[in-house]
Amino acid sequence: MAEILVTGGAGYIGSHTILELFAKTGFDVVSIDDFSNSDESTYGRIMEISGKEVTEHPLDLCDFDSLKKIFSMHRDIVGVVHFAAHKSVPDSVAKPLGYYSNNINSLINLLRVCKDYKVKNFIFSSSCAVYGNTDQLPVTEETPFEKAESPYGHTKQVCEGILENYCAANPTFKAISLRYFNPAGAHISGLTGEMPIGKPSNLVPAITQFAIGKYDDLTVFGNDYSTRDGSCIRDFIHVTDIANAHVKAIELLLKQKDNFYKIYNLGTGKGISVLEALHSFEKVSGKKLNYTIGSRRAGDVVEIYANNNLAKEELGWEPENSIDEIMATAWVWEQKLKVLESAKK
Ligand SMILES: NC(=O)c1ccc[n+]([C@@H]2O[C@H](COP(=O)([O-])OP(=O)(O)OC[C@H]3O[C@@H](n4cnc5c(N)ncnc54)[C@H](O)[C@@H]3O)[C@@H](O)[C@H]2O)c1
Repeated sequence: MAEILVTGGAGYIGSHTILELFAKTGFDVVSIDDFSNSDESTYGRIMEISGKEVTEHPLDLCDFDSLKKIFSMHRDIVGVVHFAAHKSVPDSVAKPLGYYSNNINSLINLLRVCKDYKVKNFIFSSSCAVYGNTDQLPVTEETPFEKAESPYGHTKQVCEGILENYCAANPTFKAISLRYFNPAGAHISGLTGEMPIGKPSNLVPAITQFAIGKYDDLTVFGNDYSTRDGSCIRDFIHVTDIANAHVKAIELLLKQKDNFYKIYNLGTGKGISVLEALHSFEKVSGKKLNYTIGSRRAGDVVEIYANNNLAKEELGWEPENSIDEIMATAWVWEQKLKVLESAKK
C-alpha cells in the first residue's frame, strides 16, 4: 500500500491531517515525531477515531542517519507532509538558535533523504508569519514578504526559499507550501484536539485552558492597535479545514508532472479581532471570561487575513467552519482533556 510520511504527526495539525487522510484516501500513514511538543497518546486517539493505525517512529528529524534508516524501511512512501517544527512566536524570540537549528535542519535532512529514496512529492507547513507586518490586506500569495516579526517567522521564510530553490534545481521534485493563517478548534468527534505543552501562546487554547481553570490569567496583548477594537486581527481557521486542504494538495501533487512548486494561503478570508474571538467563546460556552488587557507582545503582527482565492480555485478547497464552530469544538475538547488528565492521575 502506498504510504504518506507525516512528520510531526503526533502534533496538533499533523494528527488532524492523518485523520482526514484515513477518512478520505486509501494511503497508509507513517509518522515521525520526537514528541518535543506532543504526546505519543495522540496516536491512540487517532486509532480510536479512525480504527486505523499509524506506523510511528519516535525520532528527531535533525538525526540524519536515523532518518535515512526510516526511509530505507518504508519503500512505499510516495509523499511527505512536513509539519514538524518548533512553532511558538514568543519562544522563538527568546531562543532563536534552537528555532533556526530545528526548523531548517529538519527540512534540509528531509529533502536530502527524499532525493536518496526518490520520493518526489512534498508538502511544507508554512505560515502567514512569512508576510511580516504587511499593510496589503487581504494578503495574496504574491504579497511581498516584509521583515519577519520573529525568528519563527523568519525560519518559515528561509524554509520556503530553500524549497523553491531545491525544486528549481530538481525539476522532477514537486512541492507545495501551504501558508496557514491561525489554525484553531478541535476534531468534530470531541476525541482529539490541541495539547499544548506548558502555557499556550496561541489564543484559542489560552482561552479554553483559562476557562477550564488550568490558568488563572488570560491576557489580551494590546488594545491600542489601530484596528476596529484596538486588539490584533487574525484569520482563525478550523484545523479540520486546514487538514482537508492537505488531502487536496496531495491529490493535486500526485497528478502533476515535473516543474511544480506552488504556494497557497489557507485562511477563511475573514479577519476576526482577538476581542471578537473572546466574545465568540463566551457565546458558545455560556462562560464569561474575566480577561485582562496587557501590553503588546514582541513578535506579534497587528492585523493579517488571507485572500484564499488561489486555494479555492486550484485545490478545489473551501473552508467550512466559522469562529463559533472553532470555539465550540475547542471547548468540547478542553473538557474531554480534563477527563483524560484526571483519569491519568
Ligand atoms: N498551529 C499554528 O498556529 C500554526 C500556524 C502556522 C503554521 N504552523 C506550522 O504548522 C506545523 C504544525 O504545527 P502544529 O500546530 O501542529 O504544531 P505542533 O507543535 O502541535 O506539532 C509539531 C510536531 O512536530 C514535532 N517536532 C518538532 N520538531 C521536531 C523534530 N526535529 N523532529 C521530529 N518531530 C519534531 C513536535 O513534537 C510536534 O508533535 C508547524 O510547522 C508550524 O510551524 C502552525
